[in-house]
Amino acid sequence: MSFLYKSDPVRGAQWAQRFAQKAPDLAFRIWPDIGDPKAVRYLAAWQPPDDPVALLPNLEVVFSVGAGIDQFDLSSVPAHIPVVRMIEPGIVEGMVEYVTQAVLTIHRDLFDYAAQQRAQVWREKPVRAAASRRVGVLGIGTLGQAVLDMLRRFGFPCAGWSRTPRTLDGVDCYAGDAALDAFLARTDILICLLPLTGSTRGLLGARVFDALPAGASLVQVGRGPQLDAAALLAALDSGRLDSAILDVTEPEPLPAGHPFWTHPRIRITPHIASATRPGTAVDAVLANIARHRAGQPMIGVVDRARGY
Ligand code: GLV
Repeated sequence: MSFLYKSDPVRGAQWAQRFAQKAPDLAFRIWPDIGDPKAVRYLAAWQPPDDPVALLPNLEVVFSVGAGIDQFDLSSVPAHIPVVRMIEPGIVEGMVEYVTQAVLTIHRDLFDYAAQQRAQVWREKPVRAAASRRVGVLGIGTLGQAVLDMLRRFGFPCAGWSRTPRTLDGVDCYAGDAALDAFLARTDILICLLPLTGSTRGLLGARVFDALPAGASLVQVGRGPQLDAAALLAALDSGRLDSAILDVTEPEPLPAGHPFWTHPRIRITPHIASATRPGTAVDAVLANIARHRAGQPMIGVVDRARGY
């Protein structure tokens, strides 16, 4: 019985080491060295091969090596094979760090101070209390909840929006399309942690920006195609929005000459907010395999109808 890994080979070697320690009975294979295709029961991939079942007839589970699965062609994986998103503490920790630094960058006026530094200007701005800066997270799954848990400790008034109702301690929760405008109207720093689906593609556009309070900011750590680039530039240039910190873009890499690169109110990072950490990721995958073998539900199984 074997486990096939199809993604970055350098990280694959780290996965292999961890598997050798933690699951010596399960042969670990790195694509394209698949060994006996009939022996492969589990596949972990950033993108599965085109027709995985034709290639691997005894495949039982497909694991995504990333938190998002929009890069998967779900139609190529037959419905009886569960597809599992990566939920592991390493990704969560990285995302909490990234979003916290982004919110503090905006909250402590570092865009203004970067401009002042370029102009060699020493001028203080009044420091606003965290209690007067309302943050809101779009998408309150595992990552969104962990981010809110940290931001709450700074004293930022926290809200979250999700497709279906949720309740979180110390967080004002909004749910569904009908509540989106009310959520946006109370949000000074908007953090997008939504998965990419048909209904979130292009969501971060003029309609959403107009519903935010004037001078709000955006932290985009979802997926590039959720953001309407022209609408963001227009909102920043009119002063409707103050600033944006973008970790994901469309396309990636962001091409040279794209107006985002040089915009003084945009900060770009190259999709590094958070990444799966091999050690903890392997532990999460092995725990799910144990659940699967015991006939228990795995954690992070994708609901194909909703697309994440
Ligand atoms: C990265 O963006 C991921 O989906 O893990």
